[in-house]
Amino acid sequence: MTATRSLALGLFAATLATAAFAQSGPAQLSIQLDKPLHPVSPMLYGLMTEEINYSYDGGLYAEMVRNRTFQDHGFGGLASWNLDNKGTARGTMHYDGTEGPSEALPGSMRLEIASADAANTAGVRNEGWWGMALQPDTTYKGSLYAKADADNFGPITVSLVNDNTGAILATATVGSATTAWKQYEFTLKTAKLTPSSTNHLLISAGHTGKLWLDLISLFPPTYKNRENGNRPDLMEMMAAMHSKFLRMPGGNYLEGDEIDERFDWKTTLGPLVDRPTHRSPWNYQSSDGMGLLEFLEWTEDLKIEPVLAVFAGYALKHDYIHPGPALTPYVDDALDELEFVTGDTSTKWGAVRAKLGHPQPFPLHYVEIGNEDWFDRSGSYEGRYAQFYKAIKAKYPQLQLIATMPLKRMKPDVQDDHYYKNADEFFNFVKHYDDADRNGPKIFVGEWATREGSPTTNLGAALGDAAWMTAMERNSDLIVMSSYAPLFVNVNPGGMQWQSDLIGYDASSAYGSPGYYAQVLFGQHLGTSVPASSIANAGDRLFYSITNDPAKGVAYLKLVNATSTPQPIETAITGATPGSTATVYTLTGHTTAETNSITDPKRIVPVKSTIKTGAKFSHTIPPYSIQVVVMETK
Ligand code: AHR
Repeated sequence: MTATRSLALGLFAATLATAAFAQSGPAQLSIQLDKPLHPVSPMLYGLMTEEINYSYDGGLYAEMVRNRTFQDHGFGGLASWNLDNKGTARGTMHYDGTEGPSEALPGSMRLEIASADAANTAGVRNEGWWGMALQPDTTYKGSLYAKADADNFGPITVSLVNDNTGAILATATVGSATTAWKQYEFTLKTAKLTPSSTNHLLISAGHTGKLWLDLISLFPPTYKNRENGNRPDLMEMMAAMHSKFLRMPGGNYLEGDEIDERFDWKTTLGPLVDRPTHRSPWNYQSSDGMGLLEFLEWTEDLKIEPVLAVFAGYALKHDYIHPGPALTPYVDDALDELEFVTGDTSTKWGAVRAKLGHPQPFPLHYVEIGNEDWFDRSGSYEGRYAQFYKAIKAKYPQLQLIATMPLKRMKPDVQDDHYYKNADEFFNFVKHYDDADRNGPKIFVGEWATREGSPTTNLGAALGDAAWMTAMERNSDLIVMSSYAPLFVNVNPGGMQWQSDLIGYDASSAYGSPGYYAQVLFGQHLGTSVPASSIANAGDRLFYSITNDPAKGVAYLKLVNATSTPQPIETAITGATPGSTATVYTLTGHTTAETNSITDPKRIVPVKSTIKTGAKFSHTIPPYSIQVVVMETK
């Protein structure tokens, strides 16, 4: 059913059921636009991501080759790679831990070719991240490192091939390998073709001997044509959310299972061949193609700012560094990182950043010390936070430093609270911050989500999310920032480590959950202040938020009806009078289980309509719906 038809049905049901509500009468909402209570935090809505659910490798990071540096090898062979010998050619492939193009990449794939010629080529193919999505008339930029046991080993050919038909969709020759490691670049240009992801990359040679290959890379066009860049579709979806920051680089991904598996930012800089890659706590190897600078460029491309989380001496499997001298190198490392992000080119790390192509410093106001340190049963966090705080504030007094748990001995600037709940739990939790201490630390809700639906969440979760967002807007004097997690999931089998995610994708396409659209609506329609308001006769499953933007002359009323019945509401507005009509965006469906998916991506999307407004107006909120009423008040 289309969203328009679904809205029409909802409104029809609303008319029928209004009578049923006659007993208790409509909810009574009164809003005083001339009585601002507090400003809305300008940083209220942001993004949080980490390497989980193949968020970067196999997700946002546009690299098409999987296991490009062969770190994923074992009894099963070289993951994602298969032999592809044609005709009478005979070649075998092996992981070789003794040959590699750099100190960071000491291993490679060795292809041993016993027989081959120009017509009978030996080769290997890469299956990509559950396929390789190809578009017609498109240029794909690739490179590989190669070395052979004799000079003039070649030519080496690279091709994009359809899995099902064997059709060669693009091909290039990269020349001949020599006995020294060298990088070879190539471009593969497709002609007319039907877009699909049932394609692979084939590397072949008609030459006997030994050929070592490493760092085999292929990129489609990226967002803003960034080299080593991101998928445009996912970047556009994030841009539509009007977020103000990116919390990076995690989450558990910051910490690692063990201390030497943390996000060690210095090893994620510079040429890919100098990045050793690392194991992530979500049980797969991270290519680190998305390194610290790429994270920062991502914020730059979206015109948002980083909220940088620095490793604070605790790893997920409970190893930790004692506060004191043992922690000093980690504090120094964080200071270097801050200099890399914000320092000008006269500083050591600012100069490194400039050398990597980005002389301009990045804006930074918030730094998070660690992640979810309540898991650290040793109680070392108070001391670790204090040590980072002292050192960072001494050099960067302007930075706001976020603690990842409540502290007893000092007041942090900001405290990061995380909430993963089902919809009902969120409905019962919306008043949590209403009476919270305004003299304590500011609050960053750095991870939150209604966990219903998988791989991406359903309409019921969107209702929980929206109810919670109304609470955060109402309390946005205290809650300075918030970010949902996890943001991304690759929906292919084996792609998900965490159920209930906001945006799903495969190699070819991406879609938003209903909760994604709720965030788009809330992010795009946010005023600058919260005016006085009250509601009566609303029941416990009707939620609202009102924010006002007097400079623009617009007020945004958000309504969430989490019940299966229509909700009549009468609104009285003083202090400024809305025009006679207002635009309404409605996100609704038939059941709380209804959802979007990779095969039905636009089942639940916002539908635009208008309603009659004025100083007083009546309205019925359809069942299971989220509405944003945009009222012009000039
Ligand atoms: O968002 C998934 C995980 O949940 C994060 O990595 C972690 O911080 C939290 O426990």
